[in-house]
Amino acid sequence: MTAARDTAGGIRRIRELARERNAVLLAHNYQIAEVQDAADFVGDSLELSRKAAAAGADVIVFCGVHFMAETAAILAPKKIVLLPDAQAGCPMADMVTGPEIRTWKARFPGRPVVCYVNTPADVKAECDVCCTSANALRVVESLPDPEVLFAPDRNLAAFVARHTSKKIIAWDGFCYVHNNILPRDVRAAREKHPGAEVWAHPECRPEVIDLADRVLSTGQMVKEAPGAAVREIILATEPGIIHRLERDNPGKAFFPAHPTIHCVNMKKITLPKVLHALEEMVYRVEVPPDIADRARGAIEKMVRL
Ligand code: 13P
Ligand code: SF4
Repeated sequence: MTAARDTAGGIRRIRELARERNAVLLAHNYQIAEVQDAADFVGDSLELSRKAAAAGADVIVFCGVHFMAETAAILAPKKIVLLPDAQAGCPMADMVTGPEIRTWKARFPGRPVVCYVNTPADVKAECDVCCTSANALRVVESLPDPEVLFAPDRNLAAFVARHTSKKIIAWDGFCYVHNNILPRDVRAAREKHPGAEVWAHPECRPEVIDLADRVLSTGQMVKEAPGAAVREIILATEPGIIHRLERDNPGKAFFPAHPTIHCVNMKKITLPKVLHALEEMVYRVEVPPDIADRARGAIEKMVRL
């Protein structure tokens, strides 16, 4: 009861301060429940990029990880972008650097580079076009070239390769959260919930994708759940999304494919840290203009698609 009152009070104070600062709170689907509840908008990487680009506010408080706040700073260069915990990074995004992409391009001259939005700004600056898990196949298919370099997620690359005739040359990165979900976890979850469908995020390994009924980005899971014919769904993704799915679909039940896995970095954002971010206007995420200008081209190309 006290905890609920504290949470409600914290959210109220955050909302008041957000109004005073003319700030908008954007939260990723993997954020903890109370941060999602405090936000103006909850969504996947693509939806949040679009919201950041269109935001009328002076300040964007990004409740997510560093590359997402950086993307917002690139798309909205005149706005102040705050990440409530400066240490909330994405280990997959850190598996590739700008200089590494330059060396890679030199090894495969003439091939366009598609980079997942889960990358640092200097990587985006070296790429031709960005993608998210919601549009990776569409972005690859939009290119006229028969061979494409794809970084950094090898699992998303493998998923795209299943559905395109183009040759995908993949970087060897991965998301530890999705990669740690194993076929045996999915089988065990199916045994426990025999009537359920399995929905997997394309960052899962191919052996898990093979066992899934559907492969969807987090935003697509949110959109598809209300119309799903089944009442029980096993999710091979970060379990933060279950809060939103349960709230939006009272007649349905959602289960994590893995009992304990979660993204430590997404969970670093808490209500006290969001409040602190608004009070002190920290931690500001900025991208040097020369890098931002080059990265913006790749992101805007994706947003246009
Ligand atoms: P989406 O929200 O685009 O599905 O991405 C998942 C993810 O892992 C973001 O870090
Ligand atoms: Fe990065 Fe994976 Fe966490 Fe997403 S879920 S932020 S890809 S580590």
